[in-house]
Amino acid sequence: GDVRLWGGRFADGPSEALEKLSASVHFDWRLAPYDIAGSRAHARVLRGAGLLTEDELERMLAGLDRLEADVASGAFTGTIADEDVHSALERGLLERLGPELGGKLRAGRSRNDQVATLFRMYLRDHARIIGGLIADLQGALVGLAEAHPDVAMPGRTHLQHAQPVLFAHHVLAHVQALSRDAERLRQWDERTAVSPYGSGALAGSSLGLDPQAVAADLGFERGSSANSIDGTASRDFVAEFAFITAMIGVDLSRIAEEVIIWNTKEFSFVTLHDAFSTGSSIMPQKKNPDIAELARGKSGRLIGNLTGLLATLKALPLAYNRDLQEDKEPVFDSCDQLEVLLPAFTGMMATLTVNRERMEELAPAGFSLATDIAEWLVKQGVPFRVAHETAGECVKECERAGIELDQLSDEQFAKISPHLTPEVRTVLNVHGALASRDGRGGTAPSAVAAQLAEVKADLAVQ
Ligand code: ARG
Repeated sequence: GDVRLWGGRFADGPSEALEKLSASVHFDWRLAPYDIAGSRAHARVLRGAGLLTEDELERMLAGLDRLEADVASGAFTGTIADEDVHSALERGLLERLGPELGGKLRAGRSRNDQVATLFRMYLRDHARIIGGLIADLQGALVGLAEAHPDVAMPGRTHLQHAQPVLFAHHVLAHVQALSRDAERLRQWDERTAVSPYGSGALAGSSLGLDPQAVAADLGFERGSSANSIDGTASRDFVAEFAFITAMIGVDLSRIAEEVIIWNTKEFSFVTLHDAFSTGSSIMPQKKNPDIAELARGKSGRLIGNLTGLLATLKALPLAYNRDLQEDKEPVFDSCDQLEVLLPAFTGMMATLTVNRERMEELAPAGFSLATDIAEWLVKQGVPFRVAHETAGECVKECERAGIELDQLSDEQFAKISPHLTPEVRTVLNVHGALASRDGRGGTAPSAVAAQLAEVKADLAVQ
């Protein structure tokens, strides 16, 4: 019946078309060091269960050491005929130890629990790498804020002039977003510290192995999977990782978009360092913000990796299905992209020059001190509704006369409202407006200095 049918097909070997479709070794080879670490841990629990002698364990571990060295040197590589990294490394072990001993390692494990475990190990390592790169970027942004503690700039809502803010305050807003991304990575890592090894294909093992020992051996602080079906079938840890990396991409793209705008002739807020910008092949004068643009572009790719992965997982029945082989490339790509993007992005932010004069010239433009008039009136006892209306009339008068708020004459102020005495001028300057917003989180130099100190303390303990 079925068995003979399958047997016949195995005798023929897989078709070339199937081999090509099935192979993952060209992208899962990066899991090889983790697979070997898993094999060492598995060999030890086989010994613990009495399925290997002490001598066999020692020869097994020595064989795995040799295999690891050959993988590292490139002397041993997987081929398409191996299908995946797990099968390739089993072949490598068999070649080094012979079929008698080499053939004992597969007892009680499946590629299903193997891959679920190794994938967690790989992503946990890269969560730390990406977390470190984010800390570097935060360091560069903190440096930028620290170097410009008193530069005012136009704060915007709807991309329109809203109220003046400190440049350092604006930069630290991005640092806060990145801190949450870094925290997401740490919390994800804690949640992912569970080892599926020992789940077997889906049902666990009859061989008396100790999954908790494997978990401890491989650095999974929260032990082994409580449910072998979940251990082999769940990939929410991958989806969450893809979300966090996509979120990082989105946060970078928001900084990137501002850098691109700030770097235009029209804004002229910043100048990029030559080493972190590019030229044009035809226009000799061009200096382009390519790093920022690549960040903006790659954020789309990172979002795609997340949505593709969620689509793969949607409606998959338990437990393992081969669809799950599609789970690795998206997040491997997300790691690769962020790991090349973040260092370049950090370099760009660390080396850009700030055009203080230009920012300060524009800080009060667009009637951005109108709120200060309204709040000054409130302090004189005027209800805010009325104060808002009165300040609005000041703006209207300025627009009519083609002047700025501080150019209104005493007579013009008095005509708009008897409450608008010449003292209102005390708030009609940017640095007064900034200094007045001195509550926690506000844009006053004192409040921003306090925020900076908090951020630096947080970064120091991470
Ligand atoms: N390479 C597979 C993957 O990445 C793991 C192997 C499981 N294959 C199988 N036929 N059960 O998901």
